[in-house]
Amino acid sequence: MNRPKGTKDVFGREQKIKNYIYETLTSAVKVNNFQKIETPIFEATEVFVRSVGESSDIVSKEMYSFIDKGERSLTLRPEGTAGVIRAVVENKLYTKLPLKLYYEGPMFRYENPQKGRQRQFTQFGVEYISDASPFADVEVILMANLILKSLGIKYVLKLNSLGDTNTKTDFSKALKNYFLPFKSQLTPESQNRLETNPLRILDDKIDSQKEFVKKAPKISDFYSEESKAYFAEVKNFLIKSKVDFEEDANLVRGLDYYTHTTFEFVSDSDNSGAQSTLIGGGHYQNLVKEFGGPELSGIGFGVGIERLINELANVSEEEIEDYPHIFVLNIAPTMQAETLAIVNMFRENGFITEWNLKPTKIQKAFDKAAESKAHVYVIAGEKELQKGQLTIKMHNQQFTVGIEEVVYEIDTHLQEEHGGASETN
Ligand code: HAM
Repeated sequence: MNRPKGTKDVFGREQKIKNYIYETLTSAVKVNNFQKIETPIFEATEVFVRSVGESSDIVSKEMYSFIDKGERSLTLRPEGTAGVIRAVVENKLYTKLPLKLYYEGPMFRYENPQKGRQRQFTQFGVEYISDASPFADVEVILMANLILKSLGIKYVLKLNSLGDTNTKTDFSKALKNYFLPFKSQLTPESQNRLETNPLRILDDKIDSQKEFVKKAPKISDFYSEESKAYFAEVKNFLIKSKVDFEEDANLVRGLDYYTHTTFEFVSDSDNSGAQSTLIGGGHYQNLVKEFGGPELSGIGFGVGIERLINELANVSEEEIEDYPHIFVLNIAPTMQAETLAIVNMFRENGFITEWNLKPTKIQKAFDKAAESKAHVYVIAGEKELQKGQLTIKMHNQQFTVGIEEVVYEIDTHLQEEHGGASETN
């Protein structure tokens, strides 16, 4: 029996890269003071239909929907924003603002699988809910920027504004009128979009290359004065924060809830394959209200973990490997309980600790220690243990210390090795 098409088993090196990515993501949300939220993996289908939008690819053809035994229509979440906003409103989490939330987990879209595109994939996302502010938009973009920079991934930041609700409505009408005479020259998919969501014709892979599409009306002509000023501020703050970006008037994004700022971080390396958007996000002015909450804005992004894994395919073992700090050489057959107590003491003090489970001759234990790539070897010899002592071997030094001092001694040596910072704190 095989795994379903578009899914993955993640283990070995890939799993280590994934953990390494999570460490960076966790640190980015920590320094930005975001709190974690968990929402169900399935929601009422309506949650996605009403927010992501009926005309979107996601809702119209990619959802894993099913009727449960109670005759309810449920859907495996294709993205994180809708469920989070549903939870924010249902639990009235908006009493203290700004509300800064992050989430991660599997998402499901019935897509054609290829490199970087799966039917079950992992998203890490953030949602920042407050009164609308270009500062919040920039904060969130800076956070995405920090993540890719910390991982050493090269990218291009594409930026656009969809204006407010009126902008989108007026622009849709204008596009429809403009494209109607060219209808027969559009792909069958775009011909449908002409009725449902003409904006999506602009970012269609095939149609976007056609001359008449390039000459289509521009969304910027439909901005209100406020939308124009809002977007100008976002760009200005980004420039002041020294973040490079490219304006892309065709960046309409595939989810209906966006207004104002939209952005994508697109890979600039050869590792990504055809699917090069690493992080996608934007501002949504009406979503909280549409779910029955107060008039609040949100801005957020989703990052595809598998796409980051592809980007880091060539990362060195040293960077992703959590080698043990300590290997305890288990060589005293009559003192197994004492040796395990030593192993446990190190673990309780925060050291990643390994040992050879069965007592062996010292040379064999050394071989095991070398195999583990631990930084420090602790030799738990029978005579030493009887005297309440241990022998430590690290780098070219070897010394014997009392069991009470051993944690302090190793910590001090490791601090010296790493130029000051404690490994255990
Ligand atoms: P999205 O652009 O649909 O936005 O997805 C965000 C990211 O998820 C993409 O840039 C990509 O890295 C990853 N992704 C999407 N589909 C797949 C797939 N089939 N296989 C692998 N990775 C995939 C959203 O989902 C919005 N909820 C983002 C957001 C949050 N906007 C505001 N707040």
